[in-house]
Amino acid sequence: MQRQPTYELIIWTLVTFSSLLCQGWAAKCAARDHAPTVQQTKIGTGNPPKFMVEVRNNCPMCPIINVHLKCGNFPQALVNPRLLKVVAFDDCVVNGALPLQPLQKLSFNYTHSKYLLRPSIWYFQCE
Ligand SMILES: *[C@@H]1O[C@H](CO)[C@@H](O)[C@H](O)[C@H]1NC(C)=O
Repeated sequence: MQRQPTYELIIWTLVTFSSLLCQGWAAKCAARDHAPTVQQTKIGTGNPPKFMVEVRNNCPMCPIINVHLKCGNFPQALVNPRLLKVVAFDDCVVNGALPLQPLQKLSFNYTHSKYLLRPSIWYFQCE
């Protein structure tokens, strides 16, 4: 049988480009600019203050799972653990580690002086 290098080349090209495309797609949401964000907004003028927290999946394509925040010594008593579960010192998990859909926000409020909260670990589910 005669070899048909043209077909091989075409197939090689297709495979290469489709895998590049897939990686590019996933890479989009692995990029730091698609990292989840935590926004805290002070509500009212109470003392102690009240903060509204919004954790947002900034990936427009993929759900995000197992989002952990650095949370210092945030006390579990301030929030429903289904929304934010204190796992250990400086380690809190959002939404029971369950997915946030693309661009979904999860919100909760707490009343206390401000705790710094910032994302530490997360996984995109791009398949
Ligand atoms: C947080 O507080 C704001 C303002 O009082 C309120 O609109 C919002 O519903 C509260 N969010 C939750 C999750 O309770």
